Amino acid sequence: MLLWVELMNEITKSEFITSAVLPSQYPVDNRFEVAFVGRSNVGKSTLINALTNRRKLAKVSSTPGKTRLINFFLINEKIYIVDLPGYGYAKVSKVEQAKWGDIIQRYLLKRPQLKRVVLLVDSRHKPTSEDVIMRNWIKHYGYETIVVCTKSDKISKTEIIKNNRIIRETLQLDENEVLINFSSTTKIGKDKLLEILLED
Ligand code: GTP
Ligand code: MG
Repeated sequence: MLLWVELMNEITKSEFITSAVLPSQYPVDNRFEVAFVGRSNVGKSTLINALTNRRKLAKVSSTPGKTRLINFFLINEKIYIVDLPGYGYAKVSKVEQAKWGDIIQRYLLKRPQLKRVVLLVDSRHKPTSEDVIMRNWIKHYGYETIVVCTKSDKISKTEIIKNNRIIRETLQLDENEVLINFSSTTKIGKDKLLEILLED
């Protein structure tokens, strides 16, 4: 039965485990992790809720910049989904923004069980300079970048094709690096993302 569920790439159980800032606060059980990172308001929490079929697992805010902690969610009692703090919210001071950089880099540096990093960018826009910095950190710390373009329901198919090219170019993605168009309203891209996240 469990095998069947896994083959279907379904998340059947998800629970919030803990919030952390410092490595000493991360879970200690060595399960594999998949981290999600992106600009504030890009749709990280919404995507986590869509993947897990839960409406309120990760908090969704209309006030950007609310998630300032690293949140760990245990999925199918098997892997952690890690919601990293959003960056680039204009109303936050430079000092606060620098802190976020530290939190994220410390995590990328000190997490051997981290298997995949998903970078969320907005389908509608050219990635920001901070998205490019994030992409470079992910690469620098030795991870493949999986790019998820969020809010794909808000633009036409033609624009998606055009923007995908701009996003690939701006982030300097290698050909083998995956880019997935995603929408939490239409659920486009959900199966593809789950397949990548849950594969061993
Ligand atoms: P922070 O926690 O502040 O870093 O933001 P976040 O990246 O977690 O964004 P969040 O999931 O809170 O979403 C921000 C806003 O975008 C919310 O109003 C969501 O409803 C909306 N949103 C997210 N994903 C989608 C999507 O795929 N389509 C549409 N139309 N709206 C979306
Ligand atoms: Mg959030």
